[in-house]
Amino acid sequence: MIETRYRPIRKTGNRRRAAALAAIAAGVALTARPAIAADIDTDAGRPAGERVALNVCATCHVVARRQPDPPLLRPPAPSFVSIANRRGTTREGLLAFLQSTHRTVKAPSTMPNPLLTDDQNAAVVDYLMSLKRR
Ligand code: HEC
Repeated sequence: MIETRYRPIRKTGNRRRAAALAAIAAGVALTARPAIAADIDTDAGRPAGERVALNVCATCHVVARRQPDPPLLRPPAPSFVSIANRRGTTREGLLAFLQSTHRTVKAPSTMPNPLLTDDQNAAVVDYLMSLKRR
């Protein structure tokens, strides 16, 4: 039979329930992801460097066979596969290139400094080096 009679909850029970609810709320707050992450499909399966390349470099370079769009730059900058497989391409050389400015008034169409963080530079260089054919 369904019990219909009102049974007051004892004070201690109330406090325990409040504590339990607070713990649940805290858990929800900790596991809630920032709104921005919910709004985009980050394709997080790709390595960090490939994501940097797709977001920052792909407007000028072919960075991956699976890139969503061809570069807008005409003519495009050298493809990442071709850069990676040049004799003489080294991690140090790439890092130095990415951290310097190339454009000058006399050479306005060379690559701008992409102004990446150290982590992003390291990741995109890892990605470039991974394109070397062994
Ligand atoms: C606005 C267009 C543009 C963007 C964006 C761009 N590049 Fe470039 N990049 C170029 C052009 C043009 C060249 C060839 C001329 C030169 O060396 O500056 C080049 C050349 C390069 C080279 C070859 C340097 C060499 O030794 O010849 C590397 C490496 C490179 N880019 C990496 C990147 C990476 C990594 C990104 C993204 C973080 C990127 N580029 C974004 C235009 C761009």
